[in-house]
Amino acid sequence: MSTTFTVDSATSRATPTPKPMKRVTIPSIMARKGQDNAEPLVMLTAYTVRTAQLLDPHCDILLVGDSLGQVIYGLPSTLPVTLDMMCAHGAAVSRGSYHAAVVVDMPFGSYEASPVQAFESASRIMADTGAAAVKMEGGAAMAETVRFLTERGIPVMGHVGLTPQAVNALGGYGARGRSDAEYEKIVGDAKAVADAGAFAVVVEGVVETLADAIVEALDVPVIGIGASANCDGQVLVTEDMLGLFERTPRFVKRYGDMSGMMTEAVEHYAREVRAREFPSADQVYKPKD
Ligand code: KIV
Repeated sequence: MSTTFTVDSATSRATPTPKPMKRVTIPSIMARKGQDNAEPLVMLTAYTVRTAQLLDPHCDILLVGDSLGQVIYGLPSTLPVTLDMMCAHGAAVSRGSYHAAVVVDMPFGSYEASPVQAFESASRIMADTGAAAVKMEGGAAMAETVRFLTERGIPVMGHVGLTPQAVNALGGYGARGRSDAEYEKIVGDAKAVADAGAFAVVVEGVVETLADAIVEALDVPVIGIGASANCDGQVLVTEDMLGLFERTPRFVKRYGDMSGMMTEAVEHYAREVRAREFPSADQVYKPKD
């Protein structure tokens, strides 16, 4: 599959925004931290071109998260997600966006072995997708890798707290930081990746006071998911907040009822097909007079 991110609006079913816009840059995201009364950063996941087009005008950052493993592919976790999958979806999201900075997740197994392995994977993601940055799970253990990449021109977003790629080690997806030891470890993880050069850090699934402590401790934006309203930005999985799934985690607010809307529309279609009401005269081609 080609992963080129060149926009070809002439052949596209969708209608990309024709206006040239300046994309949000990584330095401008970093600068938000020091600003007085800065608006929180708005980040959502996107995996496909049409979703990217619809989200782009409203978001500062589009995250091509490895959550696509569950959301798009029905996988049991993010662990089986591959670099090929991230590159294909990352390129689609770049094709569909003009404004937001695109950040692509490094999939499990593509970066943990060494800084060199991480550089090879991250440079492929950047070249194939046109993304502005990669995101990487892990704290102090990944600090050397974060430094290696950032010193070589690859912006890195950190991800600490509940790190889904470590689900087997953590024993589940429950909130982290309830014990003093784990609280201190996660604050240390966030500081380690920020000190190593991460331009922003996602803090996922932690007790609110821990998220607040990280916001206080870091000089770069902290983007929360299941964290705290005091974070410098918020991120959700788009399909969760649109209500595509029956079950949503506690930290998700449903801003829509996509599953209800789809079910209603598909039931209506099926009824009309079975009753021979669709297609009607409006949807069929007549011979030319
Ligand atoms: O993969 C993902 O979607 C993520 C966000 C939930 C932060 O990492």
